[in-house]
Amino acid sequence: MQNAFHGRTMATLSATGNRKVQAGFEPLVAGFVRAPFNDIGAIEAIAKNNRNVAAILVEPVQGEAGIVIPDSGYLQALRKICNRNDWLLMLDEVQTGMGRSGKLFARQHEAIIPDVMTLAKALGNGVPIGACVCAGVATDVIQPGKHGSTFGGNPLACRAAYTVLDYMIENGIAEQAAERGTQLFEALQLGLADNVQVAAMRHLGLLLAVELKQPCQALVSLALEQGLLINVTADNVLRLLPPLIMNQAQTAELAAKLIDCISHFTG
Ligand SMILES: Cc1ncc(COP(=O)(O)O)c(C=O)c1O
Repeated sequence: MQNAFHGRTMATLSATGNRKVQAGFEPLVAGFVRAPFNDIGAIEAIAKNNRNVAAILVEPVQGEAGIVIPDSGYLQALRKICNRNDWLLMLDEVQTGMGRSGKLFARQHEAIIPDVMTLAKALGNGVPIGACVCAGVATDVIQPGKHGSTFGGNPLACRAAYTVLDYMIENGIAEQAAERGTQLFEALQLGLADNVQVAAMRHLGLLLAVELKQPCQALVSLALEQGLLINVTADNVLRLLPPLIMNQAQTAELAAKLIDCISHFTG
């Protein structure tokens, strides 16, 4: 998808829809057709043109692009198109998965089952591990032993991921993320209601964005002075991915400090 981000390994960098991160790494892997995100008509047009498509790769919510949340029904519509055309549906849940969106996986908001789902980041809670999870017909594409890497599937990382998953499910971390996400979003909405610099605010669980009307990279160091680690992606979007285990008081403190930073930001 346009503006997508799928990481920096060669094929996924090629699939990424952002020229800025691809620059300097050419030649890229060929074979990707890009469509605008959240535009079912564009995908239908590709299907109609009978392009030789194998799969759709998509983030359930575009993270690096600035927490771009598609219309409800988008993922379901993609699932239907894939079924109809015999394409695989591959969801990149690296950023949205593991409770971040308020459900264990963001796909659960639309109750769809992808053929392939990628996971990483919170999967090992700091221990490096990524996973490519396959179901149905996708399981026949790569047989055991056909693909691998030196540390792929190593017992230490797998044990860490297993323990993290167990902990998350047993302790309702996704549900907690949904509650804290609502609390943080409502506090920001209230505190920034009169701020003329704010163009839009979005959230799904603890994936939050405050979009300003101007580039706001300088906010990163302003926030650091307050003891906050934040990120500005897409030039003018403050992207917030706070800890999933934040309690109510910490959420209130985060909201207050952020509102203060944004209120004092002059560009
Ligand atoms: C949506 C998404 N996919 C994949 C990745 C993984 O990137 P990498 O393979 O470079 O670790 C990221 C990292 O930020 C991401 O946000």
